[in-house]
Amino acid sequence: MDERTTLTPTSDPAEIERRLAAIPLPQAMETQRSIRRVLSDPVDDVVLRPLIRLALEAPTGSNGQNWEFIVVRDAAVRRSLAGQYRRAWKLYGGIGRRIIRGKPDEEQMLRIMRSVQWQVDHFEDVPVLVVCCLSGGHGRVPFVPNPPNANSMHYGSIYPSVQNLLLGARAIGLGASLITLPLWSTLFARRVLGLPLSVEPCCIVALGWPRGRYGPKPRKPTEEVVHLDSYGNRGWMSERS
Ligand SMILES: Cc1cc2nc3c(=O)[nH]c(=O)nc-3n(C[C@H](O)[C@H](O)[C@H](O)COP(=O)(O)O)c2cc1C
Repeated sequence: MDERTTLTPTSDPAEIERRLAAIPLPQAMETQRSIRRVLSDPVDDVVLRPLIRLALEAPTGSNGQNWEFIVVRDAAVRRSLAGQYRRAWKLYGGIGRRIIRGKPDEEQMLRIMRSVQWQVDHFEDVPVLVVCCLSGGHGRVPFVPNPPNANSMHYGSIYPSVQNLLLGARAIGLGASLITLPLWSTLFARRVLGLPLSVEPCCIVALGWPRGRYGPKPRKPTEEVVHLDSYGNRGWMSERS
């Protein structure tokens, strides 16, 4: 299969399982990227179920499995989150544009920003939003000082499941993007989604049949980010060096 092949929408369970099994893991990882431009056509639960099933294969701290996933289809809820996204993007998008001006990767960043702008403008038409949450508070042990990496230990319990979901979507050919800006006000998100205080919304995976295509994306070379034994020692060679 050409790594850029666009897979047609389907709600046939056998075809979905076939697609999940067909793509080699490295190919799925190398071509998974944010697909923000999606069609408003419905995405059947038949498509979502295996994605959630795969998300739940991920690790969590102390095997707490303290995740909750809110599958949002309701138009009014999507509209509310779209309003939040617009407000957050107005602020952070503006700041982002100023930061990238004149930088070597300005063109690449502007391409991403155009795609975010498209998503912001069409967010209420994205057919499914999966709001990924953690429950049970930060799991802090009473009377024991929190280690400095407590936040990392906490949020590290949601993102592996999110990555599984993204890879599953890529395999099926469903467009997916990981976003956080619509949740910038957890207070607002809690109210809109009816979340109790013990459940924290962490991010959203926006899903829809894609207008664009999956494919390779620019990434830093391994030599630039890998250090051998201690920071700054760049003696480690990637298999491509
Ligand atoms: C923690 C986190 C938060 C993100 N929040 C947003 C967001 O609010 N809106 C958005 O469009 N993309 C968001 N992204 C996606 C990144 O912008 C995207 O992954 C990055 O530009 C690389 O592009 P790629 O996913 O196509 O490889 C987020 C990614 C992460 C990991």
